[in-house]
Amino acid sequence: MTVLELSSQDASPPAARSGDSARANGDGCVRVVLCRGCCCGSAAKIPGTDHDGQLARLRRLAQERPGQVQVRTAECLGPCEQANVVVVRPSVAGRRRGGRPVWLGLVRDEAAIDLLESWLAAGGPGLASLPAALSLQVFPAPKSVGSDRVR
Ligand code: FES
Repeated sequence: MTVLELSSQDASPPAARSGDSARANGDGCVRVVLCRGCCCGSAAKIPGTDHDGQLARLRRLAQERPGQVQVRTAECLGPCEQANVVVVRPSVAGRRRGGRPVWLGLVRDEAAIDLLESWLAAGGPGLASLPAALSLQVFPAPKSVGSDRVR
């Protein structure tokens, strides 16, 4: 297993498999990674959350906004105590305007997905203000994440 060390400046989750670079992912896209490892997405670990529904909603948003939003899942990204973890990576335009990857924890209820959807639709990091309620769920990126965990 290859481990990609990331600086705190980048703090991105791993790039997609099969050489999916930022270019291959679409420079204009804000990229969302839903952790679906041992805890995130697990009804046994996090009961009362519609895990499949969360993923379906975000995938629907990506289908409705091709070239603007991409959704991936990942193996455990590390901070399981924050399950469900979602990482939002800025588009190139968002990064140019100062956007950086945002790590969200405890994404468990429909209200959080509602806010996430509206933020993504508005452009995500660097292009739209993070909703105040969602900002309470931001946590610092772990120092390292595996490079082979994104599906
Ligand atoms: S399963 Fe999501 S951080 Fe571990």
